[in-house]
Amino acid sequence: MLYNGLIRVLYYMKILVTGCAGFIGYHLCNNLINNKKIKTLIGIDNLNNYYDINLKKDRLKLLSNSKFIFKKIDICNELSLTNLFSKYKFDIVINLAAQAGVRTSITNPEIYYSSNIDGFFNILNLSRKYKVKKFFYASTSSIYGDASKFPIKESFDTNKPLSFYAATKKTNEIMAYSYSEIYKIKTIALRFFTVYGPYGRPDMAIYKFTKNILSNRVLEVYNNGKHSRDFTYIDDVINNVVKLIFKNKKNSKLFEYYNVASGKKIGLMQLIKLLEKKLNKKAKLKYLKKQKGDVFSTHASNNKLIRITNNKVSTNISFGLDKYIKWFKNYEQ
Ligand SMILES: NC(=O)c1ccc[n+]([C@@H]2O[C@H](COP(=O)([O-])OP(=O)(O)OC[C@H]3O[C@@H](n4cnc5c(N)ncnc54)[C@H](O)[C@@H]3O)[C@@H](O)[C@H]2O)c1
Repeated sequence: MLYNGLIRVLYYMKILVTGCAGFIGYHLCNNLINNKKIKTLIGIDNLNNYYDINLKKDRLKLLSNSKFIFKKIDICNELSLTNLFSKYKFDIVINLAAQAGVRTSITNPEIYYSSNIDGFFNILNLSRKYKVKKFFYASTSSIYGDASKFPIKESFDTNKPLSFYAATKKTNEIMAYSYSEIYKIKTIALRFFTVYGPYGRPDMAIYKFTKNILSNRVLEVYNNGKHSRDFTYIDDVINNVVKLIFKNKKNSKLFEYYNVASGKKIGLMQLIKLLEKKLNKKAKLKYLKKQKGDVFSTHASNNKLIRITNNKVSTNISFGLDKYIKWFKNYEQ
């Protein structure tokens, strides 16, 4: 009996990934569909047009597999979500659906409020009602605001978000904390640091820079090129998140949070020089001042994550960019 129960937990897991047509969601599902421990993988996404919807559709096409079921559902639609949770009784939920991007949150905060606060609440609350074993959700490096000490540790201050996007993610962590405290639900925040790789988001610097260098267009260089970022390769992100999903540590905390980062910082100008070299083309640059909402630097400690997963975060930027450019040339040109 006990043995059968154990087999069920280990080998017949039902997992929900929200935002599955997005960059990180696609890569996570692509890894999970090949995992023998999973019986059913449900992915939902509202396929919004924040960026080219064809990229989302192309990612979904690559996920066609008998184990994977896609449903076009908005996380703000409580009724559809209730039907889904009641039908599948998920063991694990990973909420990646959100309105991403710092800059748009300054011009259009409303959409951030609905997807990132209302939508997030629906997923969190249904995870409680349907007794999900682990609830993972995407947080962000932006919640640290303009950090003054580096590398950034999880214990650093997260009370001064510089953008409304960051404010919504901080709110998610507070909501999750209260649910962990009150209802004893296991919640894990994944504080992603500038994730890049094949099928990456077109609104992010690496995509825009690659595209503009190749097509001889001007690159807008914010903060006069003085930014630096902890660029984290997608495979490192996914390998570590998957390890967290299957890790069953005794006495682990109900409310957890991890920096998901490479642990190395790259200057904006260093990134541009690397791209110029790899693309064998000189970039045309237009220097602009620091934009509202942007932080100067992100550079994290990933020690807490690595201690738990025993995984390396080892992809260096040069190797990661090679993989990215190979994909970009094949897909976009
Ligand atoms: N990529 C990064 O560097 C990064 C860094 C920090 C945090 N994050 C967070 O990680 C998560 C995934 O990011 P990503 O880069 O894959 O972004 P993405 O925009 O590619 O993916 C998000 C997906 O969620 C979907 N979505 C948005 N609102 C929805 C709603 N209301 N209902 C259903 N689906 C909805 C979108 O259509 C999209 O496919 C997001 O929560 C983002 O805020 C990403």
